[in-house]
Amino acid sequence: MRLVPAHPARTDATGHNPVTGQPHVAGDTPLAIDLSLEDLEREARHVIGEMAWAYYSGGADDERLLAGNVDAWAHWQLHPRVLAGVSEVDLSATLLGTTVTSPVVIAPTAIQGLAHPEGETATARGAASVGALMVLSSLATSSLEEVAAAAPGAPRWMQVYILRDRARTVELAQRAAAHAYGALVLTVDAPVSGLRLRELRGGVHLPHDLALPNLAGASTQRAHEGGFMAVVTGEFEPALTPDDIGWLAGLTDLPVVAKGVQRADDALRCIEAGAAAIVVSNHGARQLADAPATADILGEIVDAVGDRAEVYVDGGIRRAPDVVKALALGARAVLIGRPSLWAVAAGGSDGVASLLRWYTSELRRTMALCGADSLPAIDRSLVRRAAGWDLDSGRP
Ligand SMILES: Cc1cc2nc3c(=O)[nH]c(=O)nc-3n(C[C@H](O)[C@H](O)[C@H](O)COP(=O)(O)O)c2cc1C
Repeated sequence: MRLVPAHPARTDATGHNPVTGQPHVAGDTPLAIDLSLEDLEREARHVIGEMAWAYYSGGADDERLLAGNVDAWAHWQLHPRVLAGVSEVDLSATLLGTTVTSPVVIAPTAIQGLAHPEGETATARGAASVGALMVLSSLATSSLEEVAAAAPGAPRWMQVYILRDRARTVELAQRAAAHAYGALVLTVDAPVSGLRLRELRGGVHLPHDLALPNLAGASTQRAHEGGFMAVVTGEFEPALTPDDIGWLAGLTDLPVVAKGVQRADDALRCIEAGAAAIVVSNHGARQLADAPATADILGEIVDAVGDRAEVYVDGGIRRAPDVVKALALGARAVLIGRPSLWAVAAGGSDGVASLLRWYTSELRRTMALCGADSLPAIDRSLVRRAAGWDLDSGRP
């Protein structure tokens, strides 16, 4: 299997990092990493085959939001500041007390065993090698204990669904706390599965050599037969309210993050109920295709939340400039879903590490070009609505 990127890092002729100005040392961020997400996706599709590709790449309904999420980052432009005296760029951050080397976080995505034989443990090792945060899905094919053992001491959070059988959610939360997961990420946008026609038409199922050790419910057996997400969603508590956030927060000392919020009023309800952070997300366009793109709603949610909680965002974030736009709109971090799946499929843990190094390298460049030397220096003035995109309606 070909590892990515195909073209390894180059350093500049002087042996200095042009962004930091420091001598280049092994392991330091290189000048340029030649990585194409399109090539990575093509490679991944080739490696994993059509069923897994249908599961990973698909969206809900007519899939209009898949492109919508990606395209909406172009509704914003970066508005660079010059003469800012930037000689070094610092990407480090603290997310709910978890120290990370980059604001780019690996989103929770299910059944990574379809992507690579080592599944989530490969992703975890790749993220750990660069100090990035990984959120493990509760629909993972590796147990949370295996992932913790694969990357000891690495930053990691656990995604949870509240199940109808609450005792199993209690047990999962306690296992996560016992294995040094730093937060519980409660997904709040899946009372039912979105209509995922590619999943149904592609016969997506859990292969018999894979299991869901964190869910470990009766649906695992039926998921082997087909209709994966629709089957497992049957185990989720459909009628969640903000009280359930308080309930989850009371199970352990871990902070709770509400993932899948799309409205300012919902963000405030989550925070009042005990959420320490929210993720503005439409589940990567997999739930309701007629929902807005996250790039179009992030700013209004950040404004409503203020400094009451941390706000993160995901959906269609592909390039480093997208990351800087999200941070300029007020997100403290971004999550990437599909790019990390393509990376682990194409290159295992090395692929994930390469992808994250690419984000680091390009983030440093983009921030230097914008005159921002650290994440707090990225403010709203660095972003403006692109001509032709009305700020209120999000329409041209
Ligand atoms: C194949 C796949 C599986 C996913 N599984 C989960 C999951 O188990 N739990 C969850 O909260 N979100 C899940 N998500 C949503 C991601 O966490 C994230 O919100 C989304 O992928 C971000 O959009 P992007 O793929 O455009 O980066 C999944 C997304 C994909 C593509």
